[in-house]
Amino acid sequence: MTVRITLVHGDITEQHADAIVNAANSSLLGGGGVDGAIHRRGGPEILAECRKLRASYYGRGLGTGQAVATTAGRLNARWVIHTVGPVYQASGSDPSLLASCYRESLRVADELGARTVAFPAISTGVYRWPMDDAARIAVETVRATDTAVEEVRFVLFDERAYQVFAELIH
Ligand code: APR
Repeated sequence: MTVRITLVHGDITEQHADAIVNAANSSLLGGGGVDGAIHRRGGPEILAECRKLRASYYGRGLGTGQAVATTAGRLNARWVIHTVGPVYQASGSDPSLLASCYRESLRVADELGARTVAFPAISTGVYRWPMDDAARIAVETVRATDTAVEEVRFVLFDERAYQVFAELIH
């Protein structure tokens, strides 16, 4: 079944969804941008679960392109799905790693039974991926992924990002 793609111009921590995707780093121990906002708004439970993941299966951290779920704490969601985007290198960055963030996040969402998933524009902030390229990879990957998720909501923080995604969707 093809997933419905919607766009929102706003703050992902204000979204109501089954799962909210975090643009994390491999440490899973927080950071700035979306990561900082999710931990700030979601509260300490999220970090506590991230620490447990680091102490167990993810001892060496979460790999780029991988995804793992924790509680969403105080957010209006049941889960946060943490995924690590690739850092953009002008010397040719691997788009398949960014695509993997979306595919793996949807795979985890399916394992959880999540029906609505909110995504930020992964890797387009601190990790400096050009917005138009990242948006194309995001939309193409979501459209190409077989998933039971009914709605993927891209939540774009700034107007330009929203416009870039809107050109791909509408
Ligand atoms: N809601 C939605 N989108 C947001 C929010 C928010 N509250 N805050 C930032 N963004 C947008 C940014 O404008 C950018 O377009 O999310 C996109 C991703 O930016 P980052 O959060 O910087 O994520 P990323 O580029 O993947 O870099 C990840 O940054 O915060 C650290 O710990 C994180 O090391 C990791 C790195």
